[in-house]
Amino acid sequence: MAVTEPAAAAAGTEIPPQVPPPVPPQAAPQVPPQGNRAPATGGPGGGSVVPEGILRRQAQRESAARTYARSLPIVPVRARGLTIEGADGRRYLDCLSGAGTLALGHNHPVVLEAIRGVLDSGAPLHVLDLATPVKDAFTTELFANLPPALATDARIQFCGPAGTDAVEAALKLVRTATGRSGLLAFTGAYHGMSAGALDASGGAPEVRVTRLPYPQDLRCPFGVGGPEGAELSARWTENLLDDPKGGVPAPAGMIVEPVQGEGGVLPAPDAWLRRMREITEARGIPLIADEVQTGVGRTGAFWGVDHAGVVPDVMVLSKAIGGSLPLAVIVYRADLDVWTPGAHAGTFRGNQLAMAAGTATLAFVRENRLAERAAVLGERMLAALQGLACSHPCIGDVRGRGLMIGVELVDPDTGAAAPALAAAVRQECLDRGLIVELGGRHGAVVRLLPPLTLTDEQAAAVLDRLADAIPAAVRRTH
Ligand SMILES: Cc1ncc(COP(=O)(O)O)c(C=O)c1O
Repeated sequence: MAVTEPAAAAAGTEIPPQVPPPVPPQAAPQVPPQGNRAPATGGPGGGSVVPEGILRRQAQRESAARTYARSLPIVPVRARGLTIEGADGRRYLDCLSGAGTLALGHNHPVVLEAIRGVLDSGAPLHVLDLATPVKDAFTTELFANLPPALATDARIQFCGPAGTDAVEAALKLVRTATGRSGLLAFTGAYHGMSAGALDASGGAPEVRVTRLPYPQDLRCPFGVGGPEGAELSARWTENLLDDPKGGVPAPAGMIVEPVQGEGGVLPAPDAWLRRMREITEARGIPLIADEVQTGVGRTGAFWGVDHAGVVPDVMVLSKAIGGSLPLAVIVYRADLDVWTPGAHAGTFRGNQLAMAAGTATLAFVRENRLAERAAVLGERMLAALQGLACSHPCIGDVRGRGLMIGVELVDPDTGAAAPALAAAVRQECLDRGLIVELGGRHGAVVRLLPPLTLTDEQAAAVLDRLADAIPAAVRRTH
């Protein structure tokens, strides 16, 4: 079966007005016992694929730490735009988008063309950190899209391929530049899975950073929410830094997500983020914006910090900047560039295919004003979900920015987070051909991260399936 979404031409029009029909609700696809083979369908190379066997072997061979594979027992064989097709022939609307990586959805034609262009040109695929025309084009396009006040005198460091590698580089950079070691980070943060990034994340098992309150309405640490809660969070931060007996020595930097994604889709209030900028600037503390998930139009502005008009000292970028392939960089104020040659290195910092795919993605988002489109569509989807919340008391909150949307499930009687219900919603969504993920402190937030190319019709289909899945999940959990 072919995926039916054809080539894109322009934002909002590239996918024909059709979405895969919802698959009939059914029990979660289980990995059958050995020997129980479903009819094979065509794999990418034309060969036959037996999904159950692949899933079974994955479960046997891959580590206990595997994540998405547990809740999404799918063997993707083809994908285009919003749609993934499994080896069993079922089709899904993918609102996980590679954890927010796929700004243009799967296999967007401009991305494929860029990748093919490099492959067909005979250019080397591995070049360490040498200069190439492909890299030059990527850096030029990236700098053209940076906040102008940063771009005028910025430096870029290409890092190992993942977001977490760029976080490590950012922490090392500010530590080197300031000669200090402490770090300010926020409750609920997620910065990756390597040692330094984990330390800075909310779930860190050992606290070696100073954890500051990240404002939020539903579960405001001060019990007030709104602008008042955000102001109290800012005051707490300020007070802690200025209290000579506060136990917080001058830190090397502050790292913040403009919207906490894994933390439960919590947008930073603009005024609060500006306060963080003022507080750090006044005290000579570099501000690191982790835009790994929020960058490239996702939140309805090109960068998450743009909403508040904040110019950070360091930006951490990955996910969408590689156009679906691994790429991670930090860009930062030139005066922080005190590194000696080789102070930060790595073999895989020159991924030419990712740079070409990233250049094409950045340019497409810019030319087609996809950030604006994400803002408009995101508002509409939030409004629809808020309407849904009125008739479903188990929806405790609906929030987000642009196409980074969260629906928090709660126990209607107590208001407590309801992770089991959220997991049931995810499963009911999957049964209806919709892929969503969970996030939040308690895993009770259903997250939507559709591609920025989402059409109105696709958005309606996503909302319909979710609206159908929620009451079904309530029935299932009762
Ligand atoms: C804000 C943020 N920072 C860093 C990371 C880590 O990126 P990676 O998984 O590519 O290491 C993520 C991943 O989800 C993220 O959302």
